[in-house]
Amino acid sequence: MSPENRVLIFDTTLRDGEQSPGATMTHEEKLEIASMLDDMGVDIIEAGFPIASEGDFRAVSEIAKLSQQATICGLARANFKDIDRCWEAVQHAKSPRIHTFIGTSPLHRAIPNLDMDQMAERIHETVTHARNLCDNVQWSPMDATRTEWDYLCRTVEIAIKAGATTINIPDTVGYTAPVESADLIRKLIETVPGADEIIFATHCHNDLGMATANSLAAVAGGARQIECTINGLGERAGNTALEEVVMALKVRSDIMPWHTQVDSRKIMNISRRVATVSGFPVQFNKAIVGKNAFAHESGIHQDGMLKNAETFEIMRPEDVGLTATSLVMGKHSGRAALRSKLKELGFELADNQLNDVFVRFKELADRKKEVYDEDLVALVRQNEAVE
Ligand code: KIV
Ligand code: ZN
Repeated sequence: MSPENRVLIFDTTLRDGEQSPGATMTHEEKLEIASMLDDMGVDIIEAGFPIASEGDFRAVSEIAKLSQQATICGLARANFKDIDRCWEAVQHAKSPRIHTFIGTSPLHRAIPNLDMDQMAERIHETVTHARNLCDNVQWSPMDATRTEWDYLCRTVEIAIKAGATTINIPDTVGYTAPVESADLIRKLIETVPGADEIIFATHCHNDLGMATANSLAAVAGGARQIECTINGLGERAGNTALEEVVMALKVRSDIMPWHTQVDSRKIMNISRRVATVSGFPVQFNKAIVGKNAFAHESGIHQDGMLKNAETFEIMRPEDVGLTATSLVMGKHSGRAALRSKLKELGFELADNQLNDVFVRFKELADRKKEVYDEDLVALVRQNEAVE
């Protein structure tokens, strides 16, 4: 794969993810998650918002000191005080980054009460200031997808001229759609002077359930950094899920010829850990990391899986860090799955014995949502007692 096909993974679990109401993590938990992200090959870790609190400052500083490979980034609003505090925290990293942002859409411009020219001046001053402190500066026009096209181009050009090395295009309220997301990045690269010298990033929220699709479309349009979180943790409906973009690029490299350096086998572990420390459980049917993502109950599916796993699975469970597919025993399960499950449990039954146990199993499955291994062992024992 050529370097231009490399997509950087920017994880913001510890900043945008932790901003989710109720997802606060302790200092130790943040260090642990950062070290797992570093270890799995994430390129940039957004470790927090240093001006937000003493705790955030301390976490970003320590993560910066401890990280081995990843670039460590902190967030700062468009003012010198935020940027200085951010630099104070990230400067310890082998590779530090300052990420500064301002809301450029009409609704967001109204908040600091700046007109277009005043905001343009603010962007110039703050990005220049950040760049005087750090070689690696990311700038984001918050709510970019609802910003007037001409103004978006103008502000992006100012940020590039002032020294931004990454321009992130946030879909702050999850408003864009895949075709639009691809076009927006493509047109920015074509239109803005200097755009071909820097990296464009995509930062999507999931309010309409399109964050992953929008992020991948942005890559098709020319973005080379995806901002995401583990389990899609984030405010409201969350952010783009890291595990989804990484696996989509891996599984469909035939039509999406871009790759990341994330070791996908570490996904399940970090997903579980983030669920525990954030207190946000993963929904059962969540893509890639949900409890049911590699589980099969229906007879037809189980039978197919027993003959050839590719019949109903497009990726191997080992590729996301699971040891095996799980055949869930319930009322939709068939005889072949029961035979295979009993064999796993150490019982090899003759056909007539299997038939008897199968009848009892179906009766039980009609009463219970899931039939556990212990239930199956009890059924076999009961059958032996009757014989
Ligand atoms: O969603 C957003 O716009 C953000 C910015 C701070 C990048 O999180
Ligand atoms: Zn965000």
